[in-house]
Amino acid sequence: MSQQIYPVPARAKEQSHLTPQDYARMYAQSVEDPETFWAEQAKSLDWVTAPTKIKNTSFDAHNVSIKWFEDGELNVTYNCIDRHLATRGHVTAFIWEGDDPHSHDIITYHRLHDEVAKIANGLRKLGVGKGDRVAIYMPMIPQAVYAMLACARIGAVHTVIFGGFSPNAIADRVNNCQAKVLMTADEGLRAGKQIPLKANVDSALAEHDCPSMEHVVVYKHTGNDVDWGKNDVCWDELTAQCSTDCPPEVMNAEDPLFILYTSGSTGQPKGVVHTTGGYLLWASITHKYVFDYKPGDIYWCAADVGWVTGHSYIVYGPLANGATSVMFEGVPTYPDVRRIGQIVDKHKVNILYTAPTAIRALMAHGDFPVEGISGESLRLLGSVGEPINPEAWHWYYTTVGQSRCPVVDTWWQTETGGAMITPLPSVTAMKPGAASHPFFGVQPALVDGQGNELHGATDGNLIITDSWPGQARTVYGDHERFVQTYFTTYPGTYCTGDGARRDEDDYFWITGRVDDVLNVSGHRLGTAEIESALVSHHAVAEAAVVGYPHDLKGQGIYVYIMANEGVEVNEELTKEVSNWVRKELSPIATPDLIQWSSGLPKTRSGKIMRRILRKIAANEYEQLGDTSTLADPGVVDTLIEQRLNR
Ligand code: PRX
Repeated sequence: MSQQIYPVPARAKEQSHLTPQDYARMYAQSVEDPETFWAEQAKSLDWVTAPTKIKNTSFDAHNVSIKWFEDGELNVTYNCIDRHLATRGHVTAFIWEGDDPHSHDIITYHRLHDEVAKIANGLRKLGVGKGDRVAIYMPMIPQAVYAMLACARIGAVHTVIFGGFSPNAIADRVNNCQAKVLMTADEGLRAGKQIPLKANVDSALAEHDCPSMEHVVVYKHTGNDVDWGKNDVCWDELTAQCSTDCPPEVMNAEDPLFILYTSGSTGQPKGVVHTTGGYLLWASITHKYVFDYKPGDIYWCAADVGWVTGHSYIVYGPLANGATSVMFEGVPTYPDVRRIGQIVDKHKVNILYTAPTAIRALMAHGDFPVEGISGESLRLLGSVGEPINPEAWHWYYTTVGQSRCPVVDTWWQTETGGAMITPLPSVTAMKPGAASHPFFGVQPALVDGQGNELHGATDGNLIITDSWPGQARTVYGDHERFVQTYFTTYPGTYCTGDGARRDEDDYFWITGRVDDVLNVSGHRLGTAEIESALVSHHAVAEAAVVGYPHDLKGQGIYVYIMANEGVEVNEELTKEVSNWVRKELSPIATPDLIQWSSGLPKTRSGKIMRRILRKIAANEYEQLGDTSTLADPGVVDTLIEQRLNR
């Protein structure tokens, strides 16, 4: 843990929404009198019917029920678009920067309104209405945002599928939520390469039974040839005849806004459900305070709309605040590692929000990423997705931020809807690597394995003891799974799945997942999903997946495989199995190391002891702990002997 403390930079104080005294006062009220606090904050949204019932939540495992603003009515897109039009319609909502450094586009709030209304009317024409599910599998182009907002306009529930997912993952998600329309593009572009989005959708629908699917809407992005089937609809043809007038559907605050699939420690990804009122308020208020956003700022969240960060901090939060955002199609290393800096200079970015994995990838090139870059427009930096190691923090702070920009290391999750534990730029003296203090209304605590609360400076399991407006409400179609996953481990509280340390100054330091969830380059993956992809390969009898420390990715994927009888294990097979996972699940799930083994360490009841596998993968095999309960302790020696991470 780094002991250095960086005071709030002078400029951050001057420009801020909040003083440390404001934070202390507001935080106290938010937890002591949440009804009054959130009733007041909710006034920042435009309601059709203002809520009178503010908080109605229970974490009791027998009756988990989370409702905020339950008698309020509103439309998310009215808040994200229409209310800005009268005075700020000409303001830029998005500066789109293509993969190719020569392509960019400007989308004002007026244009955003018209584009969203047209495609929303197009969806209505296809028979999509309130409550219907629509899958979105798009590249990072403005049409991805139009698609999301079009759903919100008409009360349909979107589920965005990350463009890096394979056909199987698309089909699983479509079937789980019974989506009736899927919106995609012919191809995506990343680092100059075409990504065959439409072809992936075609494979998903051809190779799997997806009975709910009625239409695929295809936006021509690269214009390259793709197959057109009878249920495919061309985006431009659909919208050509559509009006730019599309009255927003009036939604209850608790109506679902979107479903986002995320990995857990068991089974297939869960469809986390976020609702209209509480989520929008959480996304907007955190965006305002965490980034100290003020009109005129140019803000860039370099995430993908396929992840929750993109939902909350590219789309809903910034738009609700009338912000001007950069939206970037490409990758930080193309054409070369100066790209982020070049975009910052080109669009005079003031606020940059990215992930430690990107920072580490650039940092490996020393000062080259900032060569020829002025960077003087920057005033605030943010980090999200995984713990940021102090070296990466320092590089970000000094080399990118020129030692004058606060760094906000925001801890949160798909399930939390927005930032939860985070420095506030004008309030928090920074400790490199510490997510620091809770946001308004967030009550974190640390518990031991038995759920006993731990006090003072200590390590523990991170729980949240009461609800906040942005919290996910359920798992789509499986409330019991929601209850089991989050509210039974430490009954009466929300279990985050993360470990944390609280220091003597009450700073929280997130130490990483304590369950079987991996965080690979900031991407969340369940070991169970990867194992299930592995065992579907004909050569694999059994597989166990664990994470291990990886310099660039944070965590790497270490795979132990027992081959089927008679299978010849060789390099080719290893490559084949690796490609299999890429294809079955996603390139982000590609194993880093595959160790073939004739046995796995199992207890007498047949349970794989992952603790041992994790230690071997981390090359810490000298501290294996108790192995006496293993059915065959000899397996461990062989695994150690043949370990790959030396
Ligand atoms: O382990 C934590 C890590 O990312 C997990 C959540 O992943 P996901 O739902 O995909 O959402 C990522 C974007 C919010 C958490 O359980 N994590 C996220 N942010 C941080 C972090 N770990 C440490 N520090 C962070 N700032």
